[in-house]
Amino acid sequence: MPDHTDPAGREAAATAASDWNAETLRAALGKAAEWTIDYRSHVEERPVFPAVAPGDVRRALGSAPPRSADPFERVLADFDEHIASGLTHWNHPGFLAYFSSSTRAPSIVAELLVAAIGVNAMLWRTSPAATEVERTAVDWLRQAVGLPESFSGLIFDTASTATFTALLAARERAGAGVRDHGLAGGPALAVYTSEQSHSSVEKSAMAAGLGRRALRRIETDAAFRMRPEALESAITEDLEAGIRPAMVCATIGTTSTASIDPVPALRSISDRYGVWLHVDAAYAGPAAMLPEQRPLFSGWEAADSVVLNPHKWLGTSLDCSVLLYRDSAPFRASLALTPTYLESEDDETNLMDIGLALGRRFRGLKLWVLFRCVGTDGLAETMRSHIAMAAAAAARLVDGGVFELAAPVSFSTVCFRAKLEGDPEGADRWNRDILRRVNAGGRSFLSHTELDGRYTVRLSVGSVHTEERHLDEVLEALHRAATDLSPGEPG
Ligand SMILES: Cc1ncc(COP(=O)(O)O)c(C=O)c1O
Repeated sequence: MPDHTDPAGREAAATAASDWNAETLRAALGKAAEWTIDYRSHVEERPVFPAVAPGDVRRALGSAPPRSADPFERVLADFDEHIASGLTHWNHPGFLAYFSSSTRAPSIVAELLVAAIGVNAMLWRTSPAATEVERTAVDWLRQAVGLPESFSGLIFDTASTATFTALLAARERAGAGVRDHGLAGGPALAVYTSEQSHSSVEKSAMAAGLGRRALRRIETDAAFRMRPEALESAITEDLEAGIRPAMVCATIGTTSTASIDPVPALRSISDRYGVWLHVDAAYAGPAAMLPEQRPLFSGWEAADSVVLNPHKWLGTSLDCSVLLYRDSAPFRASLALTPTYLESEDDETNLMDIGLALGRRFRGLKLWVLFRCVGTDGLAETMRSHIAMAAAAAARLVDGGVFELAAPVSFSTVCFRAKLEGDPEGADRWNRDILRRVNAGGRSFLSHTELDGRYTVRLSVGSVHTEERHLDEVLEALHRAATDLSPGEPG
């Protein structure tokens, strides 16, 4: 607690009454910068996953708000002791779980500048440069991934919000008249996506008022790709039942296996029935910067909307999810609304017109700074190395004879399991134990999924900090765990 009998405490209280003066701010920034550099240099020495139980961190923070000001040094010390030690370190080089979202150094600095200026880019006039930087950075991304000039877009917090917003536009274009009349009394609508797509598509259907039952989970083939003929049957069945198809959501880089839906075939079908095609490329989208990966994105240029997350694979700090669309009219039709107090005469795009939020963070800056400080070549090279590391890791896993691949390796994601013939339940237990053992070691963090009803371990390379030696380490840990733990017995 602050001690106001000492001069430092009194000074802190006085400055906190207004705001820190320049000297206090300079000192705090210096200390935060030192902490940041030290953290980044030594994060590898921390366990990826913290040794905390639920409630530990809250207890350490105290239950009531402080009435008076603490000097920043003490706040930083508490942050270091109680908060940083209770984090899962996404910037740890052994973080190979989910889809990584590590932070490149320029993005850290950009976040600082954003906080320093604290603008709200709801209208062009509430911060002209913020709108124009965002539009520039989004267009640079569009060019870098090879989408046509007809696409424009903006930045959301997450792909979940972007996909939800695309569904609202698709719902409006499907002619349901929801903007004015709501859903009641309108036609029943349906959304089509593969059984491998991300849960955010289902959540979007729930939040958009269509309901979970309006989601058609289309079956996939042996490589976990949506089957076009199954999509077409589902659409025709719905049409016969008087249900209106609102959106097809294809995925390039599905969450479990990074599989790739056959977008050209899905576009032909959705065109045939006049249905909106959204492409969820939240994870894999940035890899379209690589000429050798670009063919995997075939057909996305004909989508109505595409989402890709610079905060997943490009190294902007969370949050930065880019939604690109070919026509802004359905987005405006679903959500644009200008009360008198927000009217302006500027002939410019007001980003508040596309999406639910009025207030908008200046997210464009970190994407622009990233392009400036790393360049598209640097960004591409990092992803190329991740893809190569994942391919090499997959080959070595299989070589040992203990593990087998559970899906084709796609982009930088490998799904695998320890082999145990004739005992699927024992194999599930064994793999779960292997994963637990490796993660408990604190040096690497992997995640799991279920494929064909079987427990599957998942490794995805996507952190700017990960090097080959980190994959050597996790492969060794996996083999050691598989050897130490007997199949079918609790680990
Ligand atoms: C394919 C895919 N789409 C969407 C999402 C959701 O992303 P966000 O956390 O940005 O909402 C994920 C998350 O991993 C994903 O894998």
